[in-house]
Amino acid sequence: MRNIDKLYPILELSSDLKVMFGYAIGAQENSYAPYSGFHVGCVVKDDAGLLHTGCNVENASYSATICAERVAITKMISEGGNQIKTVLLASPTEIPVFPCGICLQTIQEFGPQAEIISVNSLGSLFKKASMKELNPSSFSTEQLRLNNNGDVF
Ligand code: THU
Repeated sequence: MRNIDKLYPILELSSDLKVMFGYAIGAQENSYAPYSGFHVGCVVKDDAGLLHTGCNVENASYSATICAERVAITKMISEGGNQIKTVLLASPTEIPVFPCGICLQTIQEFGPQAEIISVNSLGSLFKKASMKELNPSSFSTEQLRLNNNGDVF
């Protein structure tokens, strides 16, 4: 079994992360997901130790939907935060899920070293992973430097 598939009992979650889980549950209650019924809550801790919450916000034009993680990260940046230290998800599933590909790319931008935690719907189990594990062949500013003349636009 891969490390990232390992499930840990909630008792093993640190008290810091338990506090974050409380915030993620609060955000999950605000999730607007009438189309999927998949209600996600997220909390991001920045490098100043501040917490930023988010929930998924769906739209009748489905592609206008924004995930909980990107809501939280957008709030972090707009509130003056810089780097993501930790992302914690309140997952609506019995086996907790990790962020989608677009969210991983957004986390990569502001927290390539971030730790990602996802807690299941019963609040009984969690998964954890590093960005290196979830997004090993990440696209970043480094790749932009590989263009022909080395300019970063
Ligand atoms: N969703 C999230 O909020 N985060 C994820 O990492 C995966 C998916 C949302 C988007 C959509 O509102 C619903 O879950 C189903 O995809």
